[in-house]
Amino acid sequence: MKTYIDVIAHMEQYAIDNQVPIIDSESLTFLIQTLKQHEVTSILEIGSAIGYSAIQMAVQLDATVVSVERDIERFEQAQQNVAAAKLTNRVHLHLHDALEWDFEADYAEKQFDALFIDAAKGKNLQMFEKFAPYAKKVIITDNVLYHGLVETTERIRNRRTRQMINKIRQYNEWILNHPEYDSHLERVGDGLIITVRKGETHV
Ligand SMILES: C[S@@+](CC[C@H](N)C(=O)[O-])C[C@H]1O[C@@H](n2cnc3c(N)ncnc32)[C@H](O)[C@@H]1O
Repeated sequence: MKTYIDVIAHMEQYAIDNQVPIIDSESLTFLIQTLKQHEVTSILEIGSAIGYSAIQMAVQLDATVVSVERDIERFEQAQQNVAAAKLTNRVHLHLHDALEWDFEADYAEKQFDALFIDAAKGKNLQMFEKFAPYAKKVIITDNVLYHGLVETTERIRNRRTRQMINKIRQYNEWILNHPEYDSHLERVGDGLIITVRKGETHV
């Protein structure tokens, strides 16, 4: 019989073999610690990939996780992994482009303790605007330093990469200076921004 450890090991190997970007171990440790500090037991995740972070959060926090993925192959892998980890009652996966998802149709009036944004990096701002209203305690955005490229002063030659980096920079600046939220950047892994509503006691 497969244990959670076996499923995690299988996913880590699958991610390497198939070049699936999953959260690195340093960021995962920090993410779990932060969510624990905020006493999080329900999470909305944008960007499931193969379900690795969703499964880790569900197990390590004894939490329920709702996660959305737009790539069908990754979504199906995530479904298999969640089933193998025996978490289908607590990890709910959806196949949609998050920005086109009729979220209210599936989760009318629902509030989550936390929002974890880990999808297309150039879309962080749109993801935040769409899903932050559903997060009560804390919002975490991953990969905000994008392999150090966000803070480099060197010119990035590839046009698409340059555009994406500029969008990540815009998001970082926007959220770090937002009048309604307190945010800070953590230089852990690929960089995470932790955000809480101003005046919240959950900091
Ligand atoms: C970095 S991976 C997620 C990794 C996952 N959270 C983990 O750590 O195990 C980003 C995922 O977001 C998905 N994605 C990107 N843009 C999306 C969108 N607009 N809607 C839904 N999923 C999206 C990608 O297909 C990709 O699988």
